[in-house]
Amino acid sequence: MQEERNVFLGFDIGGTGIKAALVDIDQGKLITEKMRELTPKPADPKSVAKVVKKMFDRFDYQGPVGCGFPAIIHNGVAESAANIDKSWIEVNIQDLFSEACGVPFHAANDADVAGLAEVKFGHGNEVDGTIIVLTIGTGIGSGFFLDGKLVPNTELGHLFYKKSVYEHYVSNSARKSEELSWKEWAFRFSGYLTHLEKLFSPDLFILGGGASKKFDKYEDQLDVRTRIVPAEYQNDAGVLGAAMYANERTK
Ligand code: BGC
Repeated sequence: MQEERNVFLGFDIGGTGIKAALVDIDQGKLITEKMRELTPKPADPKSVAKVVKKMFDRFDYQGPVGCGFPAIIHNGVAESAANIDKSWIEVNIQDLFSEACGVPFHAANDADVAGLAEVKFGHGNEVDGTIIVLTIGTGIGSGFFLDGKLVPNTELGHLFYKKSVYEHYVSNSARKSEELSWKEWAFRFSGYLTHLEKLFSPDLFILGGGASKKFDKYEDQLDVRTRIVPAEYQNDAGVLGAAMYANERTK
């Protein structure tokens, strides 16, 4: 007889793509292929909700849905829009998607939910204390965990630096647009980690997002005391963590 599985649907909304999959949250495994659609242009709330609904309808699923979104999310409402359409500010993402799909949605910051997956199923579960998960992509996302518990919306990519914020200087898109070698970029990134180390004395850094796939190209250049590991789930962490978040909010 087949055991009943604890399955939730997770969405990962990004600036370029929207991903979704059904996830077995006890095993930390995607149980369907990851469905992907391009983020519509312009990526205003109405257009994105349409794509979310279209994707939702392709799953045979009725239940709470988790959703990672690249902004500060407070009680389901977007409170920033650094790398997304400004029209999202003050939109209640949970209400918008719940109304579109007819099931409850639970929205949280994308790096926070990716961190949930890495901390429970990745290297994070080997370590107590303070873990900082950084996603290095178009921006810098951060998930901050104390003894396994998420401290939401830390936005450590937005610490001020050189009249701007760190993410403009150390993100993967900054590396590409400024045509930095991995060595040049790593020198900057190491400075950023040193700054975080001084502020928080973490026990572990987990690096996710696009640049984490190339960890071997720069790991030797990162000169910090704290242990650093690449994310285990990389591209899947977003949907996996989103599904875990739906479960947490439904308990
Ligand atoms: C946003 C964060 C987000 C990160 C990664 C940043 O620009 O401010 O909320 O987590 O990008 O998508």
